[in-house]
Amino acid sequence: MPKTLIEPFRIKSVEPIRMTTRAERERLLEEARLNVFRLRADDVLLDWLTDSGTGAMSARQWAAVMQGDESYAGARSYYRVEAVVRDLTGYPHFIPVHQGRAAERLLFGTVCRRGQLVPSNCHFDTTRALLEFNGVEAVDLVIAEGLQPQTLHPFKGNIDLERVEALLQRDGARVPFGMITITNNTGGGQPVSLENLRQYAALLHRHGKPLILDACRFAENAMFVKLREPGQGDRTVKEIAREAFDLADGCTMSAKKDGLVNTGGFVALRSAEWVEALRDMLILTEGFPTYGGLAGRDLEAMAVGLEEVVDEAYLRYRLRTAEYLGEKLDAAGVGFVRPTGGHAVYLDARTVLPDLPVERYPAWALCNALYLAGGIRGVEIGSVMFGRRQPDGRETYHSMELVRLAFPRRMYTQSHFDFAAEVIAELKAEAASVRGVRIVKQAPYLRHFTCECEWA
Ligand code: F0G
Repeated sequence: MPKTLIEPFRIKSVEPIRMTTRAERERLLEEARLNVFRLRADDVLLDWLTDSGTGAMSARQWAAVMQGDESYAGARSYYRVEAVVRDLTGYPHFIPVHQGRAAERLLFGTVCRRGQLVPSNCHFDTTRALLEFNGVEAVDLVIAEGLQPQTLHPFKGNIDLERVEALLQRDGARVPFGMITITNNTGGGQPVSLENLRQYAALLHRHGKPLILDACRFAENAMFVKLREPGQGDRTVKEIAREAFDLADGCTMSAKKDGLVNTGGFVALRSAEWVEALRDMLILTEGFPTYGGLAGRDLEAMAVGLEEVVDEAYLRYRLRTAEYLGEKLDAAGVGFVRPTGGHAVYLDARTVLPDLPVERYPAWALCNALYLAGGIRGVEIGSVMFGRRQPDGRETYHSMELVRLAFPRRMYTQSHFDFAAEVIAELKAEAASVRGVRIVKQAPYLRHFTCECEWA
């Protein structure tokens, strides 16, 4: 039996990658003020900035696009995707939105009150920001292993049940619901076990609190459960995913991930209690309840994507992709968050550039070096993203210096990953020539998106 796990698709439509030379990239990066967010996508070879909305749709999805019913009210496409979501989740109430953060905004804006607390393993940035915008504290309670890049654990996305219990005992009256992110993006795309979900749900329910899944990568999570959780190997991914939804009371979803579409999302709920308020807000800010800010064709593509994503050949290839790059990095002595997650590999910049001090932003430097050496675009998760310049000019720094390489779905083949592994290994060998940066211009919030830098 050959060991190579092949891409379980063949390519019918291609998009050329524009090749650039190192000299061109040096000029382009200078023009972008040493910030890869400011590059034009056309100037990038492997764009691994995010797996969100960047994947390839299937022939069946493109065919469905032509079936889109663009009626303002009662569109056939709405009923089609509603049926798929009901079949997948079992939730009777479905509210389409244009992307994940719209789902979060509707839920938090209607259900939460100022001064409340919402626990999760780790809240994603937008989730945290939207809770805080609504005056709610976002509390991250992932297990300790989830914060240790080198520690191996099959379910590093699990929530720490003891700390949840303590929170509920102390502040239960302030908790409107609990959340959990599957897979845990902020923590490295790490999965949550069914056992942990079961206990978390039971704990919340004992305190009369619903559980809401941040379900963006529910299919990748279910595949990890199938591969790693005792007793789950013989079940289908769809059954495992369904059990996760059954344990919870609702979900927010960015279909730009495991919906396999370029835009779309939804809220789905078991109980009717919040639905009317959410729909009223939906009409005010997104659109009529049967399209929620999406075109009929987007709804059709989402319906097909949600069916396709639970295909186990696809998911096996998907998880193997990250693992494969991880193996090559291991061989090159490059550190990363272990084990590799579902949608991304998180490089530990300190292991590639051990001599670059934090004041020169090693993860940012690695991001720039990846672009210069191989035209690869990742995202810094380090002290540019999470550090701060204090009013007195002093800087604070983040505890980790990571670069996330997130893989668009069904877009890149094995040779792209071989190429990336070679680029990273070469960078490690030439670490002494990699330059750090200083920030010369920055916004007061989310500075990484727009900041301007100089070589330091
Ligand atoms: N929740 C999680 C876990 C996410 O990863 C994201 C987006 C969202 C919610 C928000 O969804 O972008 O459709 O509004 N993550 C992207 C990323 C942006 O690059 O990880 P959205």
